Amino acid sequence: MNETKNCQGKTIPVFATGKVAKVQAVKNQKDIFSLKVNLCVKEKSFPLSGQFYMIRATKGKTLLSRPISIYDLKILPQENALQNSNNQNELLSKNKNASKNIQLEFLILKKGRGTEELCSLEKNDSIDILGPLGNSFSQVQLKNKKNICIVGGGIGVAPVAGFAKTLADKTYDFFACFKNGKYGIEKVKAKKLVVTTDDGSVGTKGMLPAVLTEENVKNYDVVFACGPNPMLAYVQKICKAANVKCYLSMEAKMACGMGACLGCTIETVSGLKRCCKEGPVFDGEELIFSKPQIPSFVKNSTWELKAAPSLKVKIKDCVFENPIIASSGTFGFGTEYKDIFDVNKLGGISSKGLTLEPRQGNSGVRIFETPSGLMNSIGLQNPGIPHFIEHELPAMLKLKPVAIANLSGSTMESYIEGAKLLEKTAVPIIELNISCPNVSKGGASFGMTCESAYEITKAIREVTKKILVVKLTPQAHDIVGVALSCIDAGADGISLCNSFQGVAIDIDKGRPVFDKVKAGFGGPAIKPMALKNVYDVCSAIKNLPIDKQVPVIGMGGISTWQDAVEFIMAGATAIQIGTNTFANPNTMCQIIDGLKIYMKQKGFKTLDGFRGCALGE
Ligand code: FES
Repeated sequence: MNETKNCQGKTIPVFATGKVAKVQAVKNQKDIFSLKVNLCVKEKSFPLSGQFYMIRATKGKTLLSRPISIYDLKILPQENALQNSNNQNELLSKNKNASKNIQLEFLILKKGRGTEELCSLEKNDSIDILGPLGNSFSQVQLKNKKNICIVGGGIGVAPVAGFAKTLADKTYDFFACFKNGKYGIEKVKAKKLVVTTDDGSVGTKGMLPAVLTEENVKNYDVVFACGPNPMLAYVQKICKAANVKCYLSMEAKMACGMGACLGCTIETVSGLKRCCKEGPVFDGEELIFSKPQIPSFVKNSTWELKAAPSLKVKIKDCVFENPIIASSGTFGFGTEYKDIFDVNKLGGISSKGLTLEPRQGNSGVRIFETPSGLMNSIGLQNPGIPHFIEHELPAMLKLKPVAIANLSGSTMESYIEGAKLLEKTAVPIIELNISCPNVSKGGASFGMTCESAYEITKAIREVTKKILVVKLTPQAHDIVGVALSCIDAGADGISLCNSFQGVAIDIDKGRPVFDKVKAGFGGPAIKPMALKNVYDVCSAIKNLPIDKQVPVIGMGGISTWQDAVEFIMAGATAIQIGTNTFANPNTMCQIIDGLKIYMKQKGFKTLDGFRGCALGE
């Protein structure tokens, strides 16, 4: 690591593209990876211990880089530098400003999409790097301090181990705390090295309090620590009680890393401070740690579920084996995907949108990809309800998932006639689609106002005794009002929301991509907006009299089980998956498996354990 001479603020960050030299899982740790990156930079851009970089795989799909603390730095031999440099003449210069090739090493905990991408990189892959950023552990903090204590918890061991390397051997004690095993401390040359593990697999069983207390922290003049917040709060507490100085390296979610977005602020005694700019290393006396909150849904959990959880859900008297339903328009009639995976694992399948008469759909371009989304203008192409009843429905009904007929139309009369035909079949649920964004007549226009939504729902209610779920459009100005109107008119459930509307323009032709100009827009990009709609509608339904509290089927950009959990916590009884099936046909099965594991881990026997827990009282 670069020598630490209180160069706080003196390193010059650069945005550069490096090459991956090596990625490998740390021995005996399946979620911790070592990532080595070769980079060509000037000396003034060498990192100091405690600093971090914003890093992102160049081919990565996440929008933001991830802040990762520097673990180690090596200066590579000159010949390597020559190979990697864009400016060889500069490198040949003896000038101190000449660029040098360095190898940065990061330890990464794989815990989300961004870090997963980083951990799956291969040698020579490109990686975008912004840094070094933030302040550092520094020699100023060490002035007149003889007895030094360094503490690292979990992945927080990396920056403090890097710092330890800049100190003379055996001039400090080092406490490292892990869940299990150990990593990152191979190069630590401490006077005393103490390791604790939660499971007792290495060193002392337990957490930091098992080895560092208010009593023995008095042996030190200064403590440097990095790790999870509860551990840092503990270090702050014992240091304060023992009157020992401490410096703590904090973590926060970051977007820019440069002090510009104000997204990474943390609470201090002198107000909010930016973790990326005024930190990440703070004087322990400055920091305010909020008390960890116990999740409100803990009361619904046993925390020790042994048996498999039940994912069953009910909409009126119709039982779904699980809450995952293939969304209309993305799964045909259920048999199209049968060779790819076992569609019988799904809870339900909503048919392609059906109209009384067959329809050819829209002309011109029908689909257009955007970052994190897909625009479509299919225009309700379908074989017509009579054909569906004769040819597609029998196969749908043979499948285990609950069959749902998605009913659309262009006029009130055509909706009613379609419903009458479906009423004579064995399909248990009609999903009344008043939300299609891609037709000029009917479609979403019925879902735009409370009055029209009430009118059409009532008309369909009068001709069918089947379970009637109404599918809403996010284009409605008052989607909550529309939902409540549909319930008043007799809906047994609400599904929301259909795709948003968007426009794409062909820059070579200078005209809209789609013949109908506006198109439906779905995919991960819409998830927060769709979730907001589901949250609002579920909140309103929760305040209705009990006999009006109908189930909600949530949808919009769901691509992972975590997304599904969010929708259920927002009050959804079931959820539909659409666009993401195109990217990964196994999405729905993976969500079902993910839900089971989540519920088992959290101790939920049924989805009721956490359904709606995020809604206010
Ligand atoms: Fe933008 Fe810190 S991440 S201000």
